[in-house]
Amino acid sequence: MGKLDGKVAVITGATTGMALAGAKLFVDEGAHVFITGRRQEALDEAVKQIGRNVTGVQGDAADLDDLDRLYDTVKREKGSLDVLWASAGGGEPAPLGEITEAQFDTWFGLNARGTLFTVQKALPLFNDGGSILMTGSNASLGAFPGWSVYAGSKAVQQAWARVWLNELKDRRIRVNVLTPGQVATAKQEELFDEATKRQFESLIPRGQMGRPDEIATAALFLASDDSSYVNGMELVADGGTTAL
Ligand SMILES: NC(=O)c1ccc[n+]([C@@H]2O[C@H](COP(=O)([O-])OP(=O)(O)OC[C@H]3O[C@@H](n4cnc5c(N)ncnc54)[C@H](OP(=O)(O)O)[C@@H]3O)[C@@H](O)[C@H]2O)c1
Repeated sequence: MGKLDGKVAVITGATTGMALAGAKLFVDEGAHVFITGRRQEALDEAVKQIGRNVTGVQGDAADLDDLDRLYDTVKREKGSLDVLWASAGGGEPAPLGEITEAQFDTWFGLNARGTLFTVQKALPLFNDGGSILMTGSNASLGAFPGWSVYAGSKAVQQAWARVWLNELKDRRIRVNVLTPGQVATAKQEELFDEATKRQFESLIPRGQMGRPDEIATAALFLASDDSSYVNGMELVADGGTTAL
């Protein structure tokens, strides 16, 4: 028996990396998964890789019309929803003194505003007893120079999880934050040169970045009844970087 048998899940930003690994695992555990991403080609490839019980919906998680289209598709195909993993997010380095308005608006627009509306617009479809998780970042727990916009735009999630679980308690919908540290994904490859990657690795007790599948298993825990008594919490999956 799978941990998500018969459940319907939405995972935003899931055509690569940790959310794609999660989508595969959720399907293996019995869920039907709706995945999103902006690039149609990458979305088609991800749907092919997952192979079954998956619907790809092209869209930008920062665009409210795209979010409406996503949930219209879920409603039409499945009628309701049990699990939402709001994973689409991102950032770029910008030290204080050099932060532009465009950088602030882009990353708060996706990580904060986009995440809030991804959750809010899902609510009419949510079954009682469902689970919401959002991808944070251990950048918001540390003091990494150059990452204040990103850290701030992710830090809001902890506050939201606490307020929302209280607002949703009568529907028994749980809200948690999944907070990765450095994970070897395509985005990492794009953002960081080898020297920067080595520097980040030196902060991780095991000296190696996380793998997408190590975040996927943490997401499965929060999505499934295995975490039925975990609510309003932040699960930090960073190999102990924050604890040091
Ligand atoms: N990698 C890390 O080390 C790390 C650490 C801590 C937290 N995080 C967080 O983990 C999440 C995933 O990170 P990642 O490194 O795997 O990211 P990524 O490689 O940039 O993106 C993963 C997926 O998200 C999609 N995506 C990006 N922006 C989107 C948007 N605006 N709307 C819809 N889909 C979007 C990408 O496809 P398209 O480009 O086609 O849209 C791709 O499918 C993010 O929230 C990130 O902030 C990452």
